[in-house]
Amino acid sequence: MTTQQAVKEIQKKFDINTIFAHRAFLLADKSNLFEDIARIIQEKPKPFVKWVGGKRQLLKQFREMDLYPPHNFNPLSSAYFEPFVGGGAVFFDLLPQKAVLSDLNKELVITYNIIKNDINALIGSLKKYKYEKEYYLKIRAKKIENLSDLEIASRFIYLNRTCFNGMYRVNKDGGFNVPFGKYSNPTICDEDNLRKVSSALKNVKIENEDYKKVLGKAKKGDFVYFDPPYYPVSKTASFTSYTKEDFLDKEQIELRDTFLALTKRGCFVMLSNSDTPFINKIYKEIEKYGVKITRVRAGRAINSKGSKRGKINEVLVTNY
Ligand SMILES: C[S@@+](CC[C@H](N)C(=O)[O-])C[C@H]1O[C@@H](n2cnc3c(N)ncnc32)[C@H](O)[C@@H]1O
Repeated sequence: MTTQQAVKEIQKKFDINTIFAHRAFLLADKSNLFEDIARIIQEKPKPFVKWVGGKRQLLKQFREMDLYPPHNFNPLSSAYFEPFVGGGAVFFDLLPQKAVLSDLNKELVITYNIIKNDINALIGSLKKYKYEKEYYLKIRAKKIENLSDLEIASRFIYLNRTCFNGMYRVNKDGGFNVPFGKYSNPTICDEDNLRKVSSALKNVKIENEDYKKVLGKAKKGDFVYFDPPYYPVSKTASFTSYTKEDFLDKEQIELRDTFLALTKRGCFVMLSNSDTPFINKIYKEIEKYGVKITRVRAGRAINSKGSKRGKINEVLVTNY
């Protein structure tokens, strides 16, 4: 059996993506292949934060539509870029050998780097947090300017685990303003998963910068996934406050131009957004470069009123 055949069989048997199937094959004990693959899958980390817009539930659908990952991307020679990484659902699904992650959210990036570089101290710190409303409000009121990176990271995970709906929302001054969430017994320190995440990040770069910086780094053959703040479906449905900067028409057009520049360079590019006339229009304008817009159905909890949490359509834009 060639490597390619083995990867295909692993991918089908375990219903996983080809990039991770390839990596698992390389790591596995070949004398006991399928048992060892099952163990490697078991050891796979999950995203460590709940993040609005998380893509986890959509990945199987992307795969079944044959849109993800791109067939011709070679994870051994080329790199994966996720410049709006958020909770990193796609990164944790692929676990590519070479990856560069970035996000404009400073606290999030500090947290990734503390998990990567200082996991024991982080776990020690997280174990001290308490699930109580008054305590939560005290922690929430702290200004990150006065905290060390380790304190920023543990506070960030604590707030994410105990706030309402696991949301991240800041006011115009960048202060976290999500209310206390009611849970029966939230896991503040998921030590096992955090340790797995730490190992998975060992060779990964995680930077706090604007997505446009990807233009300075990605090369022909690399795979770039863009999951930006979505263009609002309506004025009231708008949820663009992961950071204190807006991400509206002008920013979406700049992103489309970045998508095109990467396409011309020979990168594989995939982008998610809302299925709105504006987004369809700006990507239709670059269809002649081989860009394809596909509609996908997604259930997303972006509205705090339960009754308005129905399924909404998204688009997946690809250049392959
Ligand atoms: C839709 S979320 C990504 C969700 C992610 N795919 C997941 O699975 O959790 C968008 C992310 O883009 C980040 N962001 C917003 N503006 C940005 C910019 N100009 N450059 C880089 N990241 C940005 C936000 O902080 C947020 O984490």
